[in-house]
Amino acid sequence: MTRPIATSPPLSQTVFHVVTGKGGVGKSAVAVALARTLASQGHKKVLLATTGGDDGVSSLLKCQPLGRELRELVPGIWGVSMTGESAREEYARIVLKYDTVVRLVFGNPLVRHFLDFVPGLGELNQMGKLYYHQVSGDFDHIVLDGPASGHAVTLLTAASKVVSTVPPGPLSRDTRYIAELVTDPGRTAIHLVTLPSSMSCRELFELGERLAQKEGMAMGYLFANRMPAAQEAEVEPQFADDDAGRFLQAAWQQQTQAWDRVRGLAKRLGLPLVAFDEVSQPRNVVDQLVSNLEGLR
Ligand SMILES: Nc1ncnc2c1ncn2[C@@H]1O[C@H](COP(=O)(O)OP(=O)(O)O)[C@@H](O)[C@H]1O
Ligand SMILES: [Mg+2]
Repeated sequence: MTRPIATSPPLSQTVFHVVTGKGGVGKSAVAVALARTLASQGHKKVLLATTGGDDGVSSLLKCQPLGRELRELVPGIWGVSMTGESAREEYARIVLKYDTVVRLVFGNPLVRHFLDFVPGLGELNQMGKLYYHQVSGDFDHIVLDGPASGHAVTLLTAASKVVSTVPPGPLSRDTRYIAELVTDPGRTAIHLVTLPSSMSCRELFELGERLAQKEGMAMGYLFANRMPAAQEAEVEPQFADDDAGRFLQAAWQQQTQAWDRVRGLAKRLGLPLVAFDEVSQPRNVVDQLVSNLEGLR
């Protein structure tokens, strides 16, 4: 594991962790590793949530599939697979307090149909649910296995986008609070995950710049996943002038370029870098990531 480039508070100081990046880069593996790391710190209660009805975590956590209802997945880690609709009803129940009102409003097919077409409402409701769990203090930490890049922007900016359009009342107040949560570095850390390929790094730069610079979000770590082993030597060693030597030289150069790319990316985004090795045993991916995170607790 590399030492972080920039300093960042220990993982345990942040309540709300969001993990995002392109599809397939290892977001769920990182989210599960974070949840396990945070839960291992002396009887801590951690909520591991997914959005859009996803469940990329149960196979990695080796537990029963996630459901719409919150439940303890493994000791210390609670999980829920949120959808816009399920979060909306639950959130309304919290805000409106009465089940009967919720049934009247949300049981009405016309209302439901209308609500499905309000842009950003599903995302806002899911953020609202997480916000509620943050302020209620039910959990010591919340880890969101976030959606991939573009959807993550929609989810994280949903509150700030609708805040000006909502009429005064409990919903407008909460919407403002949600917008404040994701921009507050005292509570939130949005972690980005990349692979070492140039395409992955380029795409992640765009996402990171958008979230940090344009939206002013509270950023966490840059996790470079599936990295080749770090180079010991500073300068290129002498390789033999034969096939084996040329093969070794190409491998050396590829490794160096991968490290240069992720270090450069971390620097440009101003994020502390943590690298995870490529794990050869798929079953042990999360264990390996957890052991890599030990120093950041
Ligand atoms: N460091 C790693 N080494 C080897 N395999 C990995 C590593 N990280 C993730 N994987 C594997 O890559 C696949 C995609 O990971 P996943 O966390 O599901 O990605 P995402 O959530 O971004 O779509 C999974 O099969 C996972 O086990
Ligand atoms: Mg996933």
